[in-house]
Amino acid sequence: MAILSIPEQNIELRDPIEIKQFFEERNLFFDQWSCDVIFDNQATQEEILSAYNKDLQPFMEDGGYLTADVISINSLTENYDAIRAKFLAEHTHSEDEIRFFVDGQGLFWFNMENEPVFNLLCQRGDLISVPAGTKHWFDAGESNPFVKAIRIFIDMSGWVPDYTQSGLERNFSDFNMPQ
Ligand SMILES: [Fe+2]
Repeated sequence: MAILSIPEQNIELRDPIEIKQFFEERNLFFDQWSCDVIFDNQATQEEILSAYNKDLQPFMEDGGYLTADVISINSLTENYDAIRAKFLAEHTHSEDEIRFFVDGQGLFWFNMENEPVFNLLCQRGDLISVPAGTKHWFDAGESNPFVKAIRIFIDMSGWVPDYTQSGLERNFSDFNMPQ
């Protein structure tokens, strides 16, 4: 269940309907897909994608998205520090960044115009779309990361981080993920 936080205002939203509305008002997208299946570590990408096909296929058709894959990060992931660093600095992409959380969790941070920075903790069943050009960064935590997520693309080459060099993310490095 997603949790939205605005650290500078001590605001926290846990109601998915309120989060959806908050996102819609900013031309961002948040939704939840039903998630009855719990996959073990052996689950293949094909098994995961096919388990969500009823939601995934119409979503991809509506949005003109062409490919989907599954990313898995956990405490055994090699070079995690380098992987973490790549997305921990504020950046944009030339296409939408779409993630559906099959399991685990991660924190998306947003820097929209004329409002305080906010973040969304995404967990099992949460779907998020960060539109192309949106200033954001992502963190799965300093240690013991766990993310199993479906990534949805038009063209994977659009998902290269274009760094803003603002350094803004450093102002929030002591934020504790909500429980
Ligand atoms: Fe990103």
